[in-house]
Amino acid sequence: MHKNLFSLTSILPLVFFLACTPEKHDAETREMKRFIDNLMKEMTLEEKIGQLTLYSSYMDETGPFMNEDYLDYIREGRVGAVFNAFTADYTREIQRIAVEETRLGIPLLFGYDVIHGHRTIFPMPIGETATWDMEAIKKSAQIAAREATAEGLHWTFSPMIDVTRDPRWGRIAESSGEDPFLTAEVARAKVRGYQGDDLKDLHTMLATAKHFAAYGAPQAGRDYHTVDMSEITLRNKFLPPFKATVEEGVATFMTAFNDLFAVPATGSEFLLTQILRDEWGFEGFVVTDYTSINEMVPHGFARDEKHAGKLAINAGTDMDMQGSVFYNYLAELVAEGKVSESRIDEAARRILTMKYKLGLFDDPYRYSDPEREKEMIMTAENLEFARDFARKSIVLLKNENNTLPLSDNIRSIALIGPMADNQRDLIGSWSAAGDYTKSVTLLQGLKNRLGSQTQVNYAKGTDVIGEDKSGFPQAIRAAAISDVVIMALGEHYWQSGEAASRSIIDLPGVQEDLFNEIVKLGKPVVVVLMNGRPLTIENVDAKASAILETWFLGTTAGDAIADVLFGDYNPSGKLPVTFPRNVGQIPIFYNVKNTGRPKTEFKFTSKYLDVPNTPLYPFGFGLSYTTFEYSDINLSSNQMPLDGSLNASVTVTNTGDRFGEEVVQLYIRQLVGSITRPIKELKAFEKIALEPGESREVTFELNQNHLAFYNANNEFKAEPGEFHLFIGTNSEDVKKTSFTLME
Ligand code: NOJ
Repeated sequence: MHKNLFSLTSILPLVFFLACTPEKHDAETREMKRFIDNLMKEMTLEEKIGQLTLYSSYMDETGPFMNEDYLDYIREGRVGAVFNAFTADYTREIQRIAVEETRLGIPLLFGYDVIHGHRTIFPMPIGETATWDMEAIKKSAQIAAREATAEGLHWTFSPMIDVTRDPRWGRIAESSGEDPFLTAEVARAKVRGYQGDDLKDLHTMLATAKHFAAYGAPQAGRDYHTVDMSEITLRNKFLPPFKATVEEGVATFMTAFNDLFAVPATGSEFLLTQILRDEWGFEGFVVTDYTSINEMVPHGFARDEKHAGKLAINAGTDMDMQGSVFYNYLAELVAEGKVSESRIDEAARRILTMKYKLGLFDDPYRYSDPEREKEMIMTAENLEFARDFARKSIVLLKNENNTLPLSDNIRSIALIGPMADNQRDLIGSWSAAGDYTKSVTLLQGLKNRLGSQTQVNYAKGTDVIGEDKSGFPQAIRAAAISDVVIMALGEHYWQSGEAASRSIIDLPGVQEDLFNEIVKLGKPVVVVLMNGRPLTIENVDAKASAILETWFLGTTAGDAIADVLFGDYNPSGKLPVTFPRNVGQIPIFYNVKNTGRPKTEFKFTSKYLDVPNTPLYPFGFGLSYTTFEYSDINLSSNQMPLDGSLNASVTVTNTGDRFGEEVVQLYIRQLVGSITRPIKELKAFEKIALEPGESREVTFELNQNHLAFYNANNEFKAEPGEFHLFIGTNSEDVKKTSFTLME
């Protein structure tokens, strides 16, 4: 029995140095299997269960329950992975315990919530998605991985790809919004960015598709609440992004806290085995979300933690995050014959495989390198990218009389509001190792941008929350003596994110009262929103001259917003989520069904008495400082053979006088199906850039995969019939044509 694995690894042929031909790949896979087989033969049952056990360090706290003894457990060889631990030195020290103080010296895996950047913080995911720029999203994940791996991390708990249609749910901020296709594209881009082509590359890390599944649809938008929906809806609306990550080779999946079909997701054989393994062929490992095994007890699904452990492991969960259930009970469950040893072996093998792929058996400290850490973190290049990415995330919601961009010749600007000089909120709710003291506020951004000829009259006016109006007079004075008013309004970072649902989603506190006072002065008022979710802002929309949705833009927020305010960058962001007029409309999303009584002016139709069916801003919406004109749609044919394809083209012209980018969006509607079909579904998009006066033909090629859906028998199939096809600038403003999918 060897004391330490490195005697064993040293005899491995160094196949990974050889060129990567298919033969070499097969040889490497055989070698990896042989290595893991040998290792597993050396391991006791307790040591294998140890690989299935993940604990948090004290460096960060991302859940309700911490374990003081985890370092001792590592020493016992009964921990496989640690999260919430980073920096080269700290991870090196913990790794040393695993490598030098345990019997087999199996290295630990270090995970963390690197959600929208690690040290350089990018926009919250809802904002990143608003770029509709998949290359930029991929690059943001690459940079995050570069920074995180330089601090000893191997594994990110991202991307979060829960489709959500409920802005009351705080975690909408971490999501890509309401659309399965757009979310799936973002999911693919992020997995590619984090994992790259080779996990052994020091700059890449394991990604996690989370939370599996349907966590974004809790009843009434309340976090962790029950999810109940038809299997048709689950498969067509909530699962596609997860399936996409399996196609991209995502390394890990995380379970969800919620129950679905009355079974907690962490104990759901249907999700974790039938769909994930048998249908999709996922080969990585599944980690629980935090103590979700233990939570099967209050869910009323398990009698006690031991029972919960049995349900979780047998359903297909491989690793227990923080719950100590596997640690405490798995060996007993095996002895009692309630869990098979082969199930433990399977889970341990999956986890060891990822450690092998990361190169941890070659050198367990390879990621914990203080020199690389110094070189990689918050470089000028990373910050420059962050600024460009942040300005691309901004959505122009209103621009009456071309109030924006502001002229360089403005003599005075009033900057008012609690978000104007506020560093902490800018980096959002999942800012991981981000340092908010490095974030650029809007006040700073304006100062950086403006010369001395422009006077900035700043007044906070009020707090984000609370009733204090004592700052109103000063704010009103600042507005009165200025040519233009910019109001920075929004939510605190902690008002969205995990455990941050709101039943009212207007501007908190007395911010709207302040806004109402300021607009009375009759000056142009530009509202800059900073928030993690769609807000109900009908009143602001009615009275403001211009509105910019800036989400939480991260480290470089203030500079990025200034770029847009003064036209150094022409906004191109588009909403990944519908903005309701009021809370009563929720859930409101664009890909709804028609109903048997679509709305007309007659009484007995599907509508409200007190609010239109339409949202304040539809999915896909976002203005530009220039204008784009769409030609009619040109189809290569109005019939598409089932096995063939169809080209749909439009010519888009920049009819304004500045350079601009536009997201050209294609939607379809099947008029009759074996199940009722949505009135629109996004199926393709392309972001283009046009000089003033320039035209571009954009062509989308469709095939039956774009038209297929899961029917009542759970078959993914296209059904011949009539389709409408729409192309336009958002989900409502579109050109329309029709075609037939032939038998
Ligand atoms: C709970 C969250 O739901 C999950 O997204 C996160 O990755 C874990 N905590 C770990 O921090």
